[in-house]
Amino acid sequence: MIETKVSNLIGNTPLMEVPVSAPNARLLLKIEKNNPGGSMKDRMARSMVMAAIRDGRLSAGGTIVESSSGNTGIGLAIVAAELGFRFIAVVDHHAAPDKLAVMKAMGTELRFVEGDYAEDEVAVVERQRLAAELGSSIPGAIFMNQSDNPANPEGYRGFVDELLEQTNGKVDAFCGCTGTGGSLTGIATGLKHYNPNITTVGVEPKGSIVFGQPGHPYYQSGTGTPKGDEIGKVLDFSVIDIGTQVGDAEAFEAARFLAQNTGLLVGGSTGGAIYKALELIHAGTLSGTVVCTIADGGEKYLHTVFNEAWLAERNLLDPAIGQQMARWMPIHRPYANTQFVPVGDVA
Ligand SMILES: Cc1ncc(COP(=O)(O)O)c(C=O)c1O
Repeated sequence: MIETKVSNLIGNTPLMEVPVSAPNARLLLKIEKNNPGGSMKDRMARSMVMAAIRDGRLSAGGTIVESSSGNTGIGLAIVAAELGFRFIAVVDHHAAPDKLAVMKAMGTELRFVEGDYAEDEVAVVERQRLAAELGSSIPGAIFMNQSDNPANPEGYRGFVDELLEQTNGKVDAFCGCTGTGGSLTGIATGLKHYNPNITTVGVEPKGSIVFGQPGHPYYQSGTGTPKGDEIGKVLDFSVIDIGTQVGDAEAFEAARFLAQNTGLLVGGSTGGAIYKALELIHAGTLSGTVVCTIADGGEKYLHTVFNEAWLAERNLLDPAIGQQMARWMPIHRPYANTQFVPVGDVA
């Protein structure tokens, strides 16, 4: 089939299995980084814009405004470019620079919030305030407000349908990152509707406040809810069985382990979700077919998660975590320890 719109390339993402040591479990990764904007958020961005058009809040000549750490912004940038809307993204210094550059390349207007913030501090409260102000002061503008927009979780219906088809309905557990909670709520709701016995796990960074722990700064980008911010109104705790936290070092070492041992480049939040899925599998808490989302790709974090100097400066390198990953995920690399024997001269 030949497509004529980039938004038609959203979804139908592949599923890949990685090995685990536990005999009673398998781990499948739904590779959402294959969406055109490089993340799962393309799904909800399209869903939020279409809902706004449908109910008349967005029309010709209109402006989309959103506060974003990057991936929602990239998804909205795609849809805005395709449909001809102006898009203003309200961002802060915490966003990965490459994500901002992608939005800019698609014609997005970037508005940085002002103020003195620590490097690992997210200025999300001020971002929300400024986005709401722009949304109400610019004629024809709409503030998408992903954390309080039902079209955010609804955007993941296709994800659930695809996953159930790809697995012939055999899913026992799902483990996903938690920021606004839109993806987790949307996916968990769909899976529980299909089979209430599916176990759902939300993973947030240590320092995020979604599951009731004390807040402090963290380096994982795009995920969690920082201290001072409001927990996403889209988040439905009733469909989440386990809420858990992962440290920056565990999340980043897991992402580096995957890159170096499988060639799959995933972002830091995904590294965290995979680390926790493996931990829960090997503790016997999860079994059967466990699915994790590859929320986005590591290409967006080459200067941070995949930069040893950056990690070392922040005390985020820990070889023991990589060794733990190797015990949990026994990857067979056929040429890893073989001696290469030349068979003759190359002419
Ligand atoms: C890389 C990454 N991980 C996790 C999340 C959290 O997703 P959600 O807002 O659906 O909870 C996001 C959201 O922007 C993200 O960009």
